[in-house]
Amino acid sequence: MIEARGLTKRYGRTTAVNALTFSVQPGKVTGFLGPNGAGKSTTMRMILGLDHPSAGDVRIGGRRYADLKEPLREVGALLEAKWVHPNRSARSHLRWMAASNRIPAKRVDEVLEIVGLTGVAGRRAGGYSLGMAQRLGIAVALLGDPGVLLFDEPVNGLDPEGILWIRQFMHRLAHEGRTVFVSSHLLSEMALTAQELIVIGRGRLIAQTSTKSFIESASDSSVRVRGPELARLYGVLTGQGLAVQEAPATEDSPAALIVRGTSTEQVGELAGTVGLVLHELTESRGSLEQAFIQMTGGDVEYQAGGHTSAGPAPGGPGGPGGPGGPGGPGVPSAAFPPPGTVPSPGSGAGPVPPGPVIPGVSGGPAGAPAPPASQPEAEAEARRAGKP
Ligand SMILES: Nc1ncnc2c1ncn2[C@@H]1O[C@H](COP(=O)(O)OP(=O)(O)OP(=O)(O)O)[C@@H](O)[C@H]1O
Ligand SMILES: [Mg+2]
Repeated sequence: MIEARGLTKRYGRTTAVNALTFSVQPGKVTGFLGPNGAGKSTTMRMILGLDHPSAGDVRIGGRRYADLKEPLREVGALLEAKWVHPNRSARSHLRWMAASNRIPAKRVDEVLEIVGLTGVAGRRAGGYSLGMAQRLGIAVALLGDPGVLLFDEPVNGLDPEGILWIRQFMHRLAHEGRTVFVSSHLLSEMALTAQELIVIGRGRLIAQTSTKSFIESASDSSVRVRGPELARLYGVLTGQGLAVQEAPATEDSPAALIVRGTSTEQVGELAGTVGLVLHELTESRGSLEQAFIQMTGGDVEYQAGGHTSAGPAPGGPGGPGGPGGPGGPGVPSAAFPPPGTVPSPGSGAGPVPPGPVIPGVSGGPAGAPAPPASQPEAEAEARRAGKP
């Protein structure tokens, strides 16, 4: 279990992490979600004692990292996949780490097997593809068989197969009762990987919530309905006090009505009672991306086009567990909403400038350089070597 209380980190005038209080429980995967520059890596470094908090503290199983007797046996971490001497093989990299931590050498072969690198363990790590390097990083994290595992953006730059492997692997680690804390700005990936989410923006906690309730918060549903007698239908629905909006005809779709705060059942039954024919009755749900942008919209530090949003959103949008309602039907589900369509919840600062740097974009201003493309041959070799 990881517990942060009032965790704060300032770099000069930049407050990278601002009074973060959260807990990460064992037995499940907890996603650490936030836009680029939100403070995820800084938080992880503080958990691992690599950065000293300016205020507050963070404990692992009740103790500070520096007070852990055998840290590698209690906490494993993957912060930077390419942190390995390029001329060392995976095996020799793991061996020196094991030896310096009094971990038996046979554990090296075990972790190589677990991550599927046995067949290429003798090759120089400098020639590994990003996927293989991530596996090696995970092997290092597992070396001491720790109960707590931290992964900083482990799927960045991976191909779909690598992403799937990591996702399944995290589930397995959590299933074994470990505490698994994994950061990402890829919301849809986190929705599949994590059972619990800690969402931050500009170093502040925006929400700690189960993934399920996060998804539900994104589900601001509306009903789209159309039929040959649209005007009558409008009258019937508004007559029931429903909020109805007209959606004019476009090239792709005929004119329809958008009804909020209702269900397809209610609309269908109301139309049925007055004998109205319907040609369409569909429910549309808010997307996860919408909810995420809603929650972090005012807290995105770096934005496309060199925009830097003004001061921090005071208090965040509703605090833990309470994101505001997702945007209206004009907000597309894509990661990059058009200018002015996304309100800035809680900040009162009006619309957010175009293109927040959020889902689907790897790397960041403070992050590692863009990872190299993966090498299919090397991946294939790893596969032949027998992936778990
Ligand atoms: N060593 C440092 N010196 C000065 N500022 C720093 C340092 N490390 C991080 N920062 C700043 O702290 C803020 C948070 O950075 P951090 O790397 O923790 O964000 P992140 O959420 O991991 O982002 P990304 O998704 O891009 O990896 C940024 O404004 C960054 O510029
Ligand atoms: Mg980071």
